[in-house]
Amino acid sequence: MNVSSPQSLSTRLETLLRGMPKTELHIHIEGSLEPELIFALAKRNQVSLPFPSVESLRAAYDFKDLQSFLDIYYAGASVLLQEEDFYDMTLAYLKRAHSEGVVYAEIFFDPQTHTHRGVSMSTVIAGIDRACVDAKATLGIESALILCFLRHLDEDDALKTLEEALPYKDRLIGVGLDSSELGHPPEKFARVFLKARSLGLRAVAHAGEEGPPAYIWGALNALGAERIDHGVQCIQDEQLLAHLKQTRVPLTVCPLSNVKLCVYENLSQHPMKKLLDMGLCVMVNSDDPAYFGGYINDNYIELFKALELDEEDAIALAACSIEAAFVPQSKKDLWMGQLHAFHQSLT
Ligand code: ADE
Ligand code: ZN
Repeated sequence: MNVSSPQSLSTRLETLLRGMPKTELHIHIEGSLEPELIFALAKRNQVSLPFPSVESLRAAYDFKDLQSFLDIYYAGASVLLQEEDFYDMTLAYLKRAHSEGVVYAEIFFDPQTHTHRGVSMSTVIAGIDRACVDAKATLGIESALILCFLRHLDEDDALKTLEEALPYKDRLIGVGLDSSELGHPPEKFARVFLKARSLGLRAVAHAGEEGPPAYIWGALNALGAERIDHGVQCIQDEQLLAHLKQTRVPLTVCPLSNVKLCVYENLSQHPMKKLLDMGLCVMVNSDDPAYFGGYINDNYIELFKALELDEEDAIALAACSIEAAFVPQSKKDLWMGQLHAFHQSLT
């Protein structure tokens, strides 16, 4: 047997992965914009794109690091202008997530990417929120919104953004921190996170994607982050691993993203199995599915093939995805029951 070739999954394991109730807690809604929708919205809004066709845009999705991706991701988001654009994008994601067994999604959005182009906060939030309401009514999938601050901008801009979002605070569950990590440590945003938390918003932050373990400590200590997005670089710091295990601060891990952005050369080098076996609360997410070659189940399936994970791992990951959600315990109990019932129902 060629030890480097990925294993194929049994039908039973694949059925479990695809159908098991799970949450998705790390999805940038602007990263769900498929090239076809980018071109359709560009046409609707008469925006010119620096790519002549869908194919040429997709061909540019060959990233060498986080920044090379972000440059294209922000260009793609430039087609979003009207409320219905944000609605269409969000509904497309929620339909897809629902079809993949996602019962609940916490959706990141980057308002500064839009307000800096003259799109109002109300347009952004109203469009995304209306899609969440409609998806719940028609499909039953539940969702919540996390407003992310762009860390390559300064903290005053983040504070102004939080202020602008306050009239819509009831539609938000929390705040996050994303964009270019290296050179932008979490400590830069301590005041805005303090303010957001004092208003009752939950706190998460990207840390340890490309940045060092010190950025994870910074997100925990300076921002009060309750979950770490990515966080895979914790593997380099024994003390941090022990802390994450003891506190059960979850890591929202995104396997295909890590390979596409060259954090790991391939999935067989991914530390997910080690993190799981060490007792950390980790789960699988898609990050920017339109750019990284797959939605949540592609991430599960490719990871399971590469690391030869099994049914017990599948249930553990889905259970962590439920444990880490910002929902009442009663909801977690319900989904956990559904997860075990689904597992039992497999023949
Ligand atoms: N914004 C969208 N995707 C991101 C990622 N993977 N890391 C940081 N910021 C992002
Ligand atoms: Zn992300």
